[in-house]
Amino acid sequence: MGEKLLSVENISKDFGPVRVLFGIDFAVYPGEVHALIGENGAGKSTLVKIISGYHQQTEGNIYLEGEEVHFSDIAEGEDQGIVMIHQELNLAPDLTVEENIFLGQEKKKGWLLDKQQMIADVKSILKELNCDVSPNQRIKGLSISNQQMVEIAKAVRKEAKVIIMDEPTSSLTSEEVKVLFELIRKLQEENVGIIFISHKLDEVKEIADRVTILRDGEHVRTGSVENFSEDQMANLMVGRELKDMYPEKPVFEKEEVALEVKNLSVPDYVESASFKLQKNEILGFAGLVGAGRTELMEGLVGLKKRTSGEIHKYGEKIEINNYIDAVKNNIAYLSEDRKGKTLLTNKKLTINLTLLALEKFAKPFIDNERELEAYIGAAEKFEIQAPNYNVTADKLSGGNQQKLGVAKLMEIEPEIIIFDEPTRGIDVGTKQQMYDFIKNLVTEEDKSCIVVSSELQEIIGLCTRVVVMCNGRVAGIVSGEDINEETIMQYATGLKGVI
Ligand SMILES: Nc1ncnc2c1ncn2[C@@H]1O[C@H](COP(=O)(O)OP(=O)(O)OP(=O)(O)O)[C@@H](O)[C@H]1O
Ligand SMILES: [Mg+2]
Repeated sequence: MGEKLLSVENISKDFGPVRVLFGIDFAVYPGEVHALIGENGAGKSTLVKIISGYHQQTEGNIYLEGEEVHFSDIAEGEDQGIVMIHQELNLAPDLTVEENIFLGQEKKKGWLLDKQQMIADVKSILKELNCDVSPNQRIKGLSISNQQMVEIAKAVRKEAKVIIMDEPTSSLTSEEVKVLFELIRKLQEENVGIIFISHKLDEVKEIADRVTILRDGEHVRTGSVENFSEDQMANLMVGRELKDMYPEKPVFEKEEVALEVKNLSVPDYVESASFKLQKNEILGFAGLVGAGRTELMEGLVGLKKRTSGEIHKYGEKIEINNYIDAVKNNIAYLSEDRKGKTLLTNKKLTINLTLLALEKFAKPFIDNERELEAYIGAAEKFEIQAPNYNVTADKLSGGNQQKLGVAKLMEIEPEIIIFDEPTRGIDVGTKQQMYDFIKNLVTEEDKSCIVVSSELQEIIGLCTRVVVMCNGRVAGIVSGEDINEETIMQYATGLKGVI
């Protein structure tokens, strides 16, 4: 395989008194895609943050092309050709696409910025990525998946030796994943080394040459991807055999409608969508990305402006004009945008947990003890792993942030819960827990749930009925035997249904 491009030896990392990495050895060869997998909190992001200079190791050494290197920050790492695409997107929301891509490394013509050149460069990179956003658009107006593409464009622009991708595909459409994989293959030909973190083991099988598995901060195994099946990788990650992924489907009383949405329209996104959520059911929403599922839910709970639409809960018309109205009506929404909309990542875990349910904890001032009690209860229930309860939410691993988001939602004791991409960033073992949790909500706790997901298998495995959207409309509603990939895709792509 030739000379190692980048390697780390015996890397350990302590955060305060807590050790999260234990003597890790890891290497990438030129032109290699090396996948890094492991459960939530296993230490994947921490390891790559050390490699890129974002964190410093407590022990151990890093070598680039055989020479020992020390990076005191990411800029130093980038100077030497190590570029990382963060798991939590790291763009400046008020700047344009072009400004973000060249941030800190602007091209100049004499004294002035060479805007024209930078815009032309950005255009050509975006074209290579098949991404049709304009260099002049502001980041905050872009979808999550387009933001991810901009992050990728930013890394490509820097012409790195090593590109680290921390869950790059978790918010991409399947088309975009294809484009990304083509790009990765092109980078491989140019001898770039790629570290690829993902919870999607089928992607790991498809794109990686080798895989390294971490568990609880320790190195478990490194080997050629060909030598592992997806199941074997999953078992090595969690250290035990995994049982069937999906719980048995719940049955629901057909008679009672918990929520009815009539002719809801959100300008530019959703046209006259209608559906009924039965009591105690798990109603899935499938569709290609861009079909308007998230916007429909945002319109429903008052996070996006609607131009028409009526909402009935248990037969009674309710008014929802903003998210507070939704919460008052016991309807909760877990946003697909964890960092932007679900959590205040620079605030403490307890504050995040209780934010939507403050009156429960006020007497009239916030009762810190009760708040802490609630946090401890939630951490136990959702198995949230945190260094301690005093840290801010950004200290949690990606998957644990997702669990905190769900716990926060449950604090308002909702009757109707809308989960948008509930397992994004969550490891295979924890996914099972999430599915069991959602099933229990409807079977044991008398709730009714909506699950929006881009993972078709998840919708098929979990839901009692599935609403399929296409181009902002409800294309069809399937149940029973019809909940299969073929039928759902026919509606999602417009081959079937009223479009
Ligand atoms: N800045 C920090 N301060 C304290 N602890 C931290 C910090 N960053 C991460 N940790 C802890 O280190 C451990 C490893 O986290 P890391 O983010 O590396 O996990 P991960 O493997 O990337 O998980 P995920 O799949 O959920 O993204 C976790 O227990 C996390 O809480
Ligand atoms: Mg991570």
